[in-house]
Amino acid sequence: MQNGNSTITVAGLGDLHVAESTAHPFRELFAEVSGEADVLALCGDLTNLGKVKEAEILAEDLHACKIPVVGVLGNHDLECGESERVLEILQQAGVRFLETQVYEIEGVGFAGVKGFAGGFGSHMLGAFGEEAIKHFVGEAVNEAMRLENALHSLTTERTVIVLHYAPITATLEGEPKDIFPFLGSSRLAETIDRFDVSAVLHGHAHHGTYAGKTTKGIPVYNCAQHVPKESGKPYALIKV
Ligand SMILES: [Fe+2]
Ligand SMILES: [Fe+2]
Repeated sequence: MQNGNSTITVAGLGDLHVAESTAHPFRELFAEVSGEADVLALCGDLTNLGKVKEAEILAEDLHACKIPVVGVLGNHDLECGESERVLEILQQAGVRFLETQVYEIEGVGFAGVKGFAGGFGSHMLGAFGEEAIKHFVGEAVNEAMRLENALHSLTTERTVIVLHYAPITATLEGEPKDIFPFLGSSRLAETIDRFDVSAVLHGHAHHGTYAGKTTKGIPVYNCAQHVPKESGKPYALIKV
């Protein structure tokens, strides 16, 4: 929680995958987290299939959350083509989505995008050959550019980035190596390392590793709910 030198605690939680069949899946957790942190950051895959009904279930549970909530969508939230309505329902429940806007909360700037796949380092997929490949790579480049624009617009001394896809491979360890290129893109990390960033939170890699660092040394945390964390909880507790 907030203390004398104005450090704040950010709770990071990704991959909630709220399904239609569940009743109040996160009500208790949101009530608990409200006593542990100053801000809750949701790292995408908030719903299982991006259905309106799933968003409504999550929205109801969010009433138990008494701290500000920021977030990004994940790939699962786009599955049914209802993402605009999902976004609207969750916005009405108080979630401040970072895809369209940055937020300053308790003196800390929050920026975020969903991100995209494409691989890492020298093995990153390049925009060459078929139009389909160029389109795929273009999506990853656009996400990184949108993050860059968001970061430029923040004027706070401390910044937290919220993503769904991973910017580095260290937090993917535990997942099959063959699927690393589908779990994130180092185009995100290249952008992040051009700024002074306090922490990066992501999800998507359910079987990954909690903590890693970018090349520049910026801490990155995999907040997918099933990844074991220092907090011993489904959510990470990160002081910034
Ligand atoms: Fe997920
Ligand atoms: Fe995902």
